Amino acid sequence: MSQDLDLAVVGAGPGGYIAAIRAAQLGLRVVCIDAWNSADGGAALGGTCTNVGCIPSKALLQSSEHYAYALRGLAEHGVLCAKPTVDLERMQARKATVVRQNNEGIQYLFKKNKVEFVHGRAAFRARADAVWELVVEPGASVLRARNIVLATGSNPRPLAGAAFDESRILSNAGALAIERIPKRLGVIGAGVIGLELGSVWRRLGAEVTLLEALPTFLAVADEQIAKEAFKSFTKQGLEIRLGVQIDEVRAGDGGVLVRYREAAAPDEQKALEFERLIVSIGRLPNTDGLEAQRVGLALDERGSIIVDDHCATNLPGVWAIGDVVRGPMLAHKAEEEGVAVAERIAGLAGHVDLATIPYVVYTDPEIAWVGQTEAQLRASGRAYRSGSFPFAANGRARAAGHTSGFVKMLADAASDEILGVHMIGPGVSELISEAVVAMSFRASSEDLARICHAHPTLSEVVREAALAVDRRSLNV
Ligand code: FAD
Ligand code: NAI
Repeated sequence: MSQDLDLAVVGAGPGGYIAAIRAAQLGLRVVCIDAWNSADGGAALGGTCTNVGCIPSKALLQSSEHYAYALRGLAEHGVLCAKPTVDLERMQARKATVVRQNNEGIQYLFKKNKVEFVHGRAAFRARADAVWELVVEPGASVLRARNIVLATGSNPRPLAGAAFDESRILSNAGALAIERIPKRLGVIGAGVIGLELGSVWRRLGAEVTLLEALPTFLAVADEQIAKEAFKSFTKQGLEIRLGVQIDEVRAGDGGVLVRYREAAAPDEQKALEFERLIVSIGRLPNTDGLEAQRVGLALDERGSIIVDDHCATNLPGVWAIGDVVRGPMLAHKAEEEGVAVAERIAGLAGHVDLATIPYVVYTDPEIAWVGQTEAQLRASGRAYRSGSFPFAANGRARAAGHTSGFVKMLADAASDEILGVHMIGPGVSELISEAVVAMSFRASSEDLARICHAHPTLSEVVREAALAVDRRSLNV
């Protein structure tokens, strides 16, 4: 193994692999170490995102959406076919292929950019003469590098008294690998994973019940969007119970028993039995096995590595990015930090603006937003104007037969600067990019309203929402 590298990146998830590639592009000598094992014991690059997160969940969401559409949507278009059935084995095999293609894609990119890859688990050993030493197991090989980027990601948070067994009580990994459609599926936590994976199994035929602790549904989203989403999801048959306190989870051969209470009747214990239970109550930063204490790496009370605005830790030459530090646990946020840190190490001026990171929930309808919600603006006392436009009034949405939802834009009352854009409806995972671009350039709603949008496209709804801020929508 080469000695005295410019950079060793620990973790080849979206944060780490992108940091390694960007640093190599800038001429640094880079090694990336990752511990993830594929089913055959080899490396599987891409971290949580590629192996048990973004990619496999979107593969199953797409497949299950095709099934649901064939079952209920096609006939309206005059396309009649025999009642479709699900071959879950084939669906899961396709998902595995998609994951493998992504693993191999990162391997290819490392080769192309001359990033050295080591399959194993890295831990800090010491620092001498401004060079860090990492030990990599198995094999106890020692790597020496002037800079270290920690991109060790996160792990699913278990529910007290209900450890993941991935057979009855499932984390995201088990929830993506179910091999037989359960008749009754429970989900604890109606956050992003609960809604996306709950939707997958509901579409494929499971009865799905979500038990959520908070009294408000999807409290992170804009209130109006959350309300619309709740209506759509319950219409699809997702049973969502709010204000729930879990008393007990008991897994046996026959299934999982969940005892709980609801805020409306706190003295009344209720019970539900499920074939399988997904626990999706958030994720915890992962520094397991890094030997962080040995070198005095500072963590906060949640276990996140403490970093400044530039992702520098308290240790010289040690940086941390992605799920293991503050901010949203999102792949694109990790990637942005990876680029910024690589550029700073190379002496450039990388920076990430957390205020313009987009959020997307890949349900049907999709949900997406960037910037502040109305509740946040009200709480901060900022005067704003709001404009909304429904997909039902858009020609392309009608032609496609996807008319639910709307786009809402919030802009400063005086300067008209766009402060937040909130969307629910068809294709909003793509439409949100326009809002991110606009906000990154600190555009006003009038700027967007004056830009020509192709007709007929769903993007016209974004423009109409911008026009609506000034009460001059053209098509309602
Ligand atoms: P990770 O992707 O977790 O990668 C960390 C890597 O570091 C892992 O490979 C791990 O094995 C390795 N590692 C850890 N410790 C060591 C060590 N000591 N030595 C060597 N290697 C080590 N985000 C989105 O933006 N969009 C989505 O659609 C989306 N969907 C998701 C769906 C699910 C079901 C889940 C669970 C998450 C989803 N996420 C999504 C979140 C996204 O996966 C994470 O935000 C992202 O993976 C974080 O990237 P990261 O590089 O920080 O860490
Ligand atoms: P989450 O934070 O989105 O949702 C967790 C939910 O569980 C919250 O609504 C919370 O109130 C609830 N909860 C917490 N404790 C509970 C308890 N004891 N009983 C009942 N409910 C409880 O976390 P989730 O869904 O686990 O996902 C983890 C992270 O992964 C997300 O925060 C997100 O950053 C990322 N992710 C992103 C996706 C995307 O971008 N589309 C998709 C999936 C995950």
